[in-house]
Amino acid sequence: MSKKIIITGGAGFIGSHVVRLFVNKYPNYTIINVDALTYAGNLENLKDIDTQPNYFFEKVNILDVKALEDVFDKYGVTDVIHLAAESHVDRSIVSPLDFVYTNIIGTVNLLNTAKNKWAADLSKHRFYHISTDEVYGSLGETGLFTETTAYDPNSPYSASKASSDHFVRAYRETYHMQTVVSNCSNNYGPFHFPEKLIPLFIHNIIQEKPLPVYGDGLYTRDWLYVKDHALAIDLVFHDGKDGETYNIGGFNEWKNIDLVKLLCKQMDEKLGREIGHSEKLITYIKDRPGHDRRYAIDATKINKELGWKPSVTFEQGLSETIDWFLSNQEWLQNVTSGNYQNYYQSMYSNR
Ligand code: NAD
Ligand code: TYD
Repeated sequence: MSKKIIITGGAGFIGSHVVRLFVNKYPNYTIINVDALTYAGNLENLKDIDTQPNYFFEKVNILDVKALEDVFDKYGVTDVIHLAAESHVDRSIVSPLDFVYTNIIGTVNLLNTAKNKWAADLSKHRFYHISTDEVYGSLGETGLFTETTAYDPNSPYSASKASSDHFVRAYRETYHMQTVVSNCSNNYGPFHFPEKLIPLFIHNIIQEKPLPVYGDGLYTRDWLYVKDHALAIDLVFHDGKDGETYNIGGFNEWKNIDLVKLLCKQMDEKLGREIGHSEKLITYIKDRPGHDRRYAIDATKINKELGWKPSVTFEQGLSETIDWFLSNQEWLQNVTSGNYQNYYQSMYSNR
């Protein structure tokens, strides 16, 4: 069947990889990128595919119900893959309400619009909600998050994502919508906005600026290459069982300080600097409030049921990521200067 899929947040980091994968892999699908272009949305991320005949962009805020209804009507939308969100924990500590609006109310708007538009036969349509492992809270030294781990969110970001996950569940139980959810660990890779750890530190190493490590640097995250997440999303969307949750992770835990040291070493090699040079930029700073100590995903279910596993090691993925940032310094420059926000104006204002 020729699907007409809304991908929300398609101009963001992960969304742009998902849009690219679907546009290229499924020429008979119509892919509609619905994105408000907040500070995190950048259409330059999709420059290579934005003239493909099966790709469409709609500058729509998911808080705007009428605009959402119009997009459903205009394209005859059959499915939704929902990634749009406020996604940065540090921003959620400063402005929690922005996270409530987009992540909770925006998700309910989308669910509600989809439910109404698909009322004739809900069984023909799928609503796929992309979530995070942060909803499970913090682990101690041992243990892994499974799909049945109780929700225990600690930051305004994770609380808003947890709430949106619950609404997806409620729409399934109450209205019998076909839904699927996946909860993924920390992603890294090309087009990552330089406010998050890895791209921020790559940028600062290039510029020889301090590398601000929070607290004691012993916080642990499970890192996954973004292209492997996009491949997992493709599998879950097509083959995931209705009503199920899938945890997606890299089987790849790193303490922040060890990761930063590896990054410094790889960058010194690539930049022809003396090994140890960039490590001198490491600066321990005041901790993030409510900082979760450790995240780690058990991705056995998606591996066993859908045959997914990460395709690259962390060393390979990190090396490819650094190479991408080094060969796309104009992108980095446009993002850090704010110039990227003019791209929509120049490319889309006359279309
Ligand atoms: P991102 O911040 O890079 O991109 C978010 C996108 O959503 C941007 O293009 C932005 O313009 C858009 N957006 C924000 N508010 C909107 C609104 N009100 N209406 C329409 N569009 C809006 O985020 P990301 O890192 O690509 O994350 C994408 C999704 O994956 C999020 O739901 C996030 O919770 C989830 N996730 C992210 C990670 C990660 O490591 N980055 C890990 C697991 C899950
Ligand atoms: P981040 O990339 O913000 O992702 P998340 O908080 O969603 O896991 O941060 C990853 C880890 O790196 C987290 O433990 C916080 C830490 N961190 C720093 O030490 N310094 C920084 O400047 C940033 C942005 C993060």
